[in-house]
Amino acid sequence: MQPQHKRLLGAAATGLAAAVAAHILRRWRDRRRIRRMTKVELHAHLNGSIRPATLKRLAAERGLDAACLDRKRTLEVCFEIFALIHKCVDSLEIVAVIAREFLEDLRADGCAYVELRTTPRALQGRTEADYVRTVCRVLSEASGITARLLVSVDRSRGPEAAAKTLAEVAQLRRSDATVDRIVVGVDFSGNPTSKHGFDAFEHLFREVRDQWGLGCALHVGETPRSDGDSAKILAFAREKPRRVRFGHALAFSDDELRGCASLIEACPSSNAATLDLARLEDHPRLWCHFHSTGSPPLAICTDDTGVFGCSLAGEYLKVWDAFGPVDLVRVVDDAAAAAFDACCGEAVRRRRAMYNV
Ligand code: IMP
Ligand code: ZN
Repeated sequence: MQPQHKRLLGAAATGLAAAVAAHILRRWRDRRRIRRMTKVELHAHLNGSIRPATLKRLAAERGLDAACLDRKRTLEVCFEIFALIHKCVDSLEIVAVIAREFLEDLRADGCAYVELRTTPRALQGRTEADYVRTVCRVLSEASGITARLLVSVDRSRGPEAAAKTLAEVAQLRRSDATVDRIVVGVDFSGNPTSKHGFDAFEHLFREVRDQWGLGCALHVGETPRSDGDSAKILAFAREKPRRVRFGHALAFSDDELRGCASLIEACPSSNAATLDLARLEDHPRLWCHFHSTGSPPLAICTDDTGVFGCSLAGEYLKVWDAFGPVDLVRVVDDAAAAAFDACCGEAVRRRRAMYNV
C-alpha cells in the first residue's frame, strides 16, 4: 500500500473511533440523566410491585409452587402470578413491607410523586378498612417522595363487593384524617376478560367522581371485549375528562380518545407483554404520542414491577431507546398536571430544585 493511502486509512480509522467514542459517551450521559431525572408514577399496583426477591422468599417460606414465575408473561400468566402474590402477601405486616420496599425503589429511580393503587383485602382477621388504613399510614410516612393512594375496584369480584369496599372507604375518609388526605382516587382494574362489565360499576364511579370529588383511573382497552365495554368507559370519561385517566387504552385511535380523559397511563413492559410486541417501537399509544400531533398526553408507568421485572427508570430508558430523542421532561410535566392531588407539581419542583434534574 502507498504511504499516502496508509495515512488516509489511519486518519479515517481515527475519525471513526472518535465518532464511536462520542456516540458512546453521549449515550452514557443520556442514560445517566434519564436515570436521575425527576419522575412521576401514576400507575402501579401495590401487590404487583412486590420485589421479585421478596416474592421468591415468601413463596419458598410457604412451600408454594412458583413455577409460573418462569413462564412468558401472557395476560393469563400475569393473573396466575397475582394469585401467587396474594397467597404470599397474607398479613398487613407484609403489605406494609412491600409498600415500603416499593417506595424505596421508586425514590432511588428519581420518583418525586406516586399514586399507588391496591385492592383492599381482609387478611388474618383484619378488615378491608384495616388494610386501607395500613397502606395509608405507610404512604403518609414516606420520606423523599410524596405518595398517594387509589383504591382499586377489582372487576372480577363483582359490583356488590366493590360497593361494600367503597362504603367502608367512604366511612374511613370521614373518620381518619390520614386516609382522607392520602386517598385521592379509585381505580377500575382486575382481569379484563372477567364477565363483569363497566356498566355494573358505573354508578359507583359516578359517586366517586361527583359526590366524593375524587379521580377515576380506569383500565380500558387492554384486550378486546365483545360487549361494548370500552365504549361505555369512553362515554363515562367524556362527561368530565379532567377527573378521569385511562390505564393502557391500547385498542383506540387518537380520534377515539380525544376529549375523553386527561391522560393515558402507558406501561411499556406490561403493554409489550400483553400485546406480544417484538419491539417497543410498535407500541400503538407510544407510537402515536411521539409520531403524531394532537395525541392525548401520556405518562410512563410501571404497572407491576414484580411481574414484569421492570423499574420506573428502566421504563423511561426503554422509551428513550425506542423513540428517542424525545422530550421526557414534558412527559413528566403532563403526568404531574394529571395527578389527582395538586401537590404533585410542588413535589416535582422541589426534587428538581434539589437535584437539578
Ligand atoms: P393489588 O390490587 O395491590 O392486589 O395488585 C394486584 C392486582 O392489580 C391484580 O390482582 C389485578 O386485580 C390488578 N392488576 C394489576 N395489573 C393489572 C392490569 O394490567 N390489568 C388489570 N388489572 C391489573
Ligand atoms: Zn394496571
